[in-house]
Amino acid sequence: MRRIYFDHSATTPVDRQVADEMYRFLTGDNFGNPSSQHYFGSSVKEAVKEAREKVARSIGADPSEIVFTSGGTESDNMAIHGAAYSNQKKGNHIITCAVEHHAVLNTVKALGKQGFETTILPVDAYGMVHVEDVERAITDKTILITIMHANNEVGTIMPIAEIGKLTRERKIIFHVDAVQSFGKIPVNVDELGADLLSISAHKVYGPKGVGALYIRKGTRWRQSLFHGGAQERLRRAGTENIPGIIGLGKAAELAVENMEEESSRLTRLRDKIIEGIKGRIPHVRLTGHPVLRLPNHASFCFEYIEGESMLLYLDMEGVASSSGSACTSGSLEPSHVLLAMGIPPELAHGNLRVTLGKDNTEEDADYFLEKLVPIVEKLRDISPYGETG
Ligand SMILES: Cc1ncc(COP(=O)(O)O)c(C=O)c1O
Repeated sequence: MRRIYFDHSATTPVDRQVADEMYRFLTGDNFGNPSSQHYFGSSVKEAVKEAREKVARSIGADPSEIVFTSGGTESDNMAIHGAAYSNQKKGNHIITCAVEHHAVLNTVKALGKQGFETTILPVDAYGMVHVEDVERAITDKTILITIMHANNEVGTIMPIAEIGKLTRERKIIFHVDAVQSFGKIPVNVDELGADLLSISAHKVYGPKGVGALYIRKGTRWRQSLFHGGAQERLRRAGTENIPGIIGLGKAAELAVENMEEESSRLTRLRDKIIEGIKGRIPHVRLTGHPVLRLPNHASFCFEYIEGESMLLYLDMEGVASSSGSACTSGSLEPSHVLLAMGIPPELAHGNLRVTLGKDNTEEDADYFLEKLVPIVEKLRDISPYGETG
């Protein structure tokens, strides 16, 4: 059966070149501990240094500002915890927004239970946070603002550079979750005004379980999650995930190398899908911003339909997509992102997310549209939700 992968926001396949580089560090003599004072250690240490340089270059940072982690979730936790606990003398107020990934939202909420004051900003119908709302929420106790660059569920790109200007003027630490935007749109820490920034390898054709946190030089941030050795210049204890780090380095290098060309190709494909769905299926709403959205991201809410049923039928036709984020699917609760955008729960249940990647073609888009139309018709025919389409 034809298999089409349209779920690149959940994860991506590992690029062959990335896997080849990693393989070198899983076999032969390249098994050393980079902290060891002998050949086996120093050769691996050199490879980690090169990977760090590649990651730094890909986001306009200095290599000393990159800390390797176990992925986006750890980077987010580390960024927020570290900034909160290091700045308690200055204040205790943290600002975030309602559509963040749970790695950010639940970390901020946990700090709220530990005595920090938290503000969770609303978003508009496109899932966009407004700079004026950020500005209004700032108090003289605000120590940290954490806002995502692009949303994983609806693809909306946030006004990060403008928020970054505000935080610089006010000397407030600014964390940006760039897990979804990295490799799809330009991510430059200076242009965005980020002091802390999270990325994850498995969203950019790298391996799972490895990521990085950028920490701007001079930022008041101290490690607060793990206690242990002096790795990563005392910022992240534990023997390094060497194959993972090598993989992230290669993936980061490739992600920015081909970004411009690949993003315009994906934008055309994405728009073909958006127009194709809007033109062929009634009672459907595009979710997220119509223009300021990730080039590979299309998401919709279909009236009178369960997103989960659409997924199952599409899967039977060989198309892998998702409803909400992979982390929330499986739960009966509608996505917190769609609800925060003011989408009624019954419509939120009809969500379908299609996220494209480098192996997807025009033919994939045609095949998907051809299969989707009868699936929607069939599901609406048997829908208990009311009118059929
Ligand atoms: C915006 C965002 N932040 C953080 C994460 C968590 O990253 P990881 O899977 O590497 O822990 C994800 C993953 O879906 C994400 O989309």
